[in-house]
Amino acid sequence: MTEIDTPRLLLRQWQDSDYQPFARLNADVDVMAHFPTALDKDASNQMANKCRQLINDNGWGFWAVELKENRAFIGFVGLHRPTITLPFSPCVEVGWRLAKAYWGKGLATEAAREALAFGFMTLGLDEIVSFTATSNKQSEAVMKRLHMDYKGLFEHPSLAKDSPLLKHHLYGLTKAKWLSLK
Ligand SMILES: CC(C)(COP(=O)(O)OP(=O)(O)OC[C@H]1O[C@@H](n2cnc3c(N)ncnc32)[C@H](O)[C@@H]1OP(=O)(O)O)[C@@H](O)C(=O)NCCC(=O)NCCS
Repeated sequence: MTEIDTPRLLLRQWQDSDYQPFARLNADVDVMAHFPTALDKDASNQMANKCRQLINDNGWGFWAVELKENRAFIGFVGLHRPTITLPFSPCVEVGWRLAKAYWGKGLATEAAREALAFGFMTLGLDEIVSFTATSNKQSEAVMKRLHMDYKGLFEHPSLAKDSPLLKHHLYGLTKAKWLSLK
């Protein structure tokens, strides 16, 4: 099972003690502002179980992110194969969700950079995508900081046609471009 070490972070398999802080961040309406709803404890635990299971099965996924200085669980960052069919499927996405106290420190970008390196070098992916509701400027800014290329708009198929979150921006980074940045 892969663990990824960055200067300030450890990306690792989920553990039981992550569930409580994860439920707290999933109940935070600011963290979940660009999702249809915040998550209650059961839904949060289900998501943590799913992340844990996928890492168990595949060795990679949405890793739990731990701050090295105090070993606090701060959220997740990693790679995921969306189960829903998207206009650009099959694909592997890079994604992130951190507790609000840890925004504005460059931590999501630091973790995602290493997740991309894992995807290209260890998994041998040719391209990794990322997408977000058009309102989520903070998430889009992470994609830009990672030098991902804008690929256009799409309508997320799991959202209602009248949802304000329906329209999503799609970004992608090819292995060739990633290598050229090194
Ligand atoms: C999306 C999300 C992870 C982005 O977090 P973030 O903290 O804005 O992004 P980063 O970790 O890359 O940090 C970048 C910010 O830290 C600042 N920063 C401070 N110290 C830094 C350092 N040492 N290195 C780099 N950047 C640093 C940058 O200047 C930047 O600030 P700015 O936004 O004012 O320009 C966060 O908003 C989140 O978890 N949102 C809720 C969940 C969500 O929407 N997920 C995405 C769904 S698609």
